[in-house]
Amino acid sequence: MRTPFIAGNWKMHTTVAEASALVRQMKERLDRMEGIEKVVCPPFISLAVIRQIIQGTSIRLGAQNMYFEEEGAYTGEVSPLMLSALCDYVILGHSERRQYFGETDQVVNKKVKAALKAGLMPILCLGERLEEKEAGKTEEVVTRQVRGALEGISSPQGLVIAYEPIWAIGTGKAATPHDSNETIALLRRRLAELYGEEVAQGVRILYGGSVTASNIAGFIEQPEIDGALVGGASIKAEEFLSIAEQSAAIKKGK
Ligand code: 13P
Repeated sequence: MRTPFIAGNWKMHTTVAEASALVRQMKERLDRMEGIEKVVCPPFISLAVIRQIIQGTSIRLGAQNMYFEEEGAYTGEVSPLMLSALCDYVILGHSERRQYFGETDQVVNKKVKAALKAGLMPILCLGERLEEKEAGKTEEVVTRQVRGALEGISSPQGLVIAYEPIWAIGTGKAATPHDSNETIALLRRRLAELYGEEVAQGVRILYGGSVTASNIAGFIEQPEIDGALVGGASIKAEEFLSIAEQSAAIKKGK
């Protein structure tokens, strides 16, 4: 079935020296964990050095963003081709990109297309705001986001989705495992409408938002939740290792 997936989104944290030290601290234990995919997503400037540090291990590398053009006069941007030489995954459509950098579903769609074309596997993030949740609009919002991001894509090869309710990100107020499981089940139904049941059953869908070593078990025990996209807790070595180890053990026991 679906291999469980734990990814750390380091966001705008760590210098190159700190990033190298962090990954060195986690490298051996992460490498030893079996039956689970382990991904670290450091800032752009640390990708090349971390790639060297984890070479030959089972740890995978992801970026946190990219532009959709292959190359050109786009000062300050990083292209799919540059990333595909360094990493396997790229986080796209994170709510912080949508909120602070004006990314729309259309932009996210262009980025997902460009990533797939370059052979990068997108970790597509989506999720509702607090007002939308309180207005009972979660289903409507995530449906619009998933359809928008995948418009015109005939085969979402390697796609991973992260359901991250915005009100749960960085707040210490995680969603409940039950509610997240329901929303993720809905997302899988939406994928089945687009690509058929078999493809939908193969797509990993993660939960993200205030995941810690203390609450990961509740999420991983849910049948529809295939892993987690971890923010704050992913830059604390022991905490991230514990999250990944618990996830591997629980999914293995199923
Ligand atoms: P926190 O785990 O810090 O809430 O962040 C979640 C997130 O945004 C991961 O992409």
